[in-house]
Amino acid sequence: MKLTTKLILLLFACSFNRFVFAQEKEADYKLSGKQKVIYHQEMVKIDSAMAKMTRYLAKGDFVQLRKTAQDVRNNFVLKSKLTLDEKKVMETKLSKKFKTMEANFYRHLAKLAEVAKRRDLELSHFYFDKVLKDCTNCHKNTTPEKFTNFFRKKKTTTTTQTQGKK
Ligand code: HEC
Repeated sequence: MKLTTKLILLLFACSFNRFVFAQEKEADYKLSGKQKVIYHQEMVKIDSAMAKMTRYLAKGDFVQLRKTAQDVRNNFVLKSKLTLDEKKVMETKLSKKFKTMEANFYRHLAKLAEVAKRRDLELSHFYFDKVLKDCTNCHKNTTPEKFTNFFRKKKTTTTTQTQGKK
């Protein structure tokens, strides 16, 4: 076997191992049924709030930026849709790592609202970026099986054209 072939096979084996390992370890996000549906719906709302915040920031609309950041912060997941018992169950289905990521997300949204209130453009950009990184980090690190794009090799990461054309 040629050396390059061997190397390719080795690389293949390594990434495959990593994949198996990721599958075997305890999941960070184990919601199912109603909780999963609600979490998903909440994410869709957050997604659209994030798009709006991009526009507000670009226009310098600090009032709406603050309001939206605060709304997401205060309503993030299940403030009203789940009963107390259901919330408790949910707590047991999210790992410590997941909750830490949620907490960072909350904190950065609160900071974004705070600096937007002060009309601080530079810091608004800074915390907007933090919030965006929280989205990415949580998806990439806690639900890799869902967000497989992060793990595609360069060659196959063709951005889906339909998504770009909104
Ligand atoms: C603490 C973790 C966490 C953070 C922070 C987070 N998400 Fe999510 N997100 C999830 C999980 C878990 C799912 C999968 C929910 C499901 O369908 O079960 C998800 C799903 C989504 C989906 C649906 C994807 C699909 O194709 O079904 C979108 C869109 C989304 N998130 C956008 C965002 C945006 C935008 C942000 C930041 C502003 C964000 N999320 C922050 C955990 C997070």
